Amino acid sequence: MRSMAPSNREGIEGKIHVADCVKFMLGRMAAGSVDLTVTSPPYDNLRDYQGYSFDFEGIADGLFRVTKRGGVVVWVVGDKINGGRTLTSFRQGLFFQEIGFQMHDVMIYQKKNTPFMRSNAYTNCYEFMFVLSKGSPGTFNPIKTETARSGFEMLTHNKLADGVNKKIRKELKKEKTKTNIWQYAVGLGGTTSDKIAFKHPAVFPERLAQDHILSWTNPGALVFDPMCGSGTTCKMAMLNGRRWLGIDISKEYAEVARQRIKEAGKQLQIW
Ligand SMILES: C[S@@+](CC[C@H](N)C(=O)[O-])C[C@H]1O[C@@H](n2cnc3c(N)ncnc32)[C@H](O)[C@@H]1O
Repeated sequence: MRSMAPSNREGIEGKIHVADCVKFMLGRMAAGSVDLTVTSPPYDNLRDYQGYSFDFEGIADGLFRVTKRGGVVVWVVGDKINGGRTLTSFRQGLFFQEIGFQMHDVMIYQKKNTPFMRSNAYTNCYEFMFVLSKGSPGTFNPIKTETARSGFEMLTHNKLADGVNKKIRKELKKEKTKTNIWQYAVGLGGTTSDKIAFKHPAVFPERLAQDHILSWTNPGALVFDPMCGSGTTCKMAMLNGRRWLGIDISKEYAEVARQRIKEAGKQLQIW
């Protein structure tokens, strides 16, 4: 018999909630109910989130509780530069391991156009995407890219101890699995075309959220963002036929997220 994940309390899915996510996860979400979280925390208070506090350990524990066995959390994070790099992200990664997550992969989100320059170091163009899993990921649908060369080539066929390097004419593969460095253009038209999203200071690209949603879930899965900001993860989950649930502590950002999702819903004619 297939084991069913415990269900969430009535009526919390398909909504953006204004709440402290630590309290919300504990009080209103069932353990083992989430397939995938794609989220990004405030980085070392790098930006001003209207003075809201950030309890990292409470969030990490809450995420471990609500994630299904085989579920995945994608934690998109960068470090403040305070003289040197703070490495807060590394400390967070180690804490996730301590509480039972597997660090399934450390991926890079590379920004194609970045204004973040330093006078005494190379221009920073990336953030980490920690792919954390509870056990081994239950779903992996690898995104493929075209190979640079196609057609036929003489390829090594049978390299034996005699040192004779036999070759045979073989067809090159037309596509291969993407690497774990993902590049996205940022800013209006890159991150998103929704002007309203930029009322939030730290939106991540829609395609980043979508690529993770397609990789780690199948249609019908529950996708979660406990610090959803302008609602990018929830919007892309909805557009890709997943169930979704978002939380932000700021009423103002939650309103931005709701409006974005409502507009996107019109494309699907569900509003
Ligand atoms: C980096 S932003 C997320 C941006 C989002 N990924 C997007 O694409 O718009 C982090 C968000 O966490 C929210 N936040 C901070 N502490 C929170 C908490 N305890 N509970 C819920 N949200 C919180 C902030 O208001 C902010 O919008």
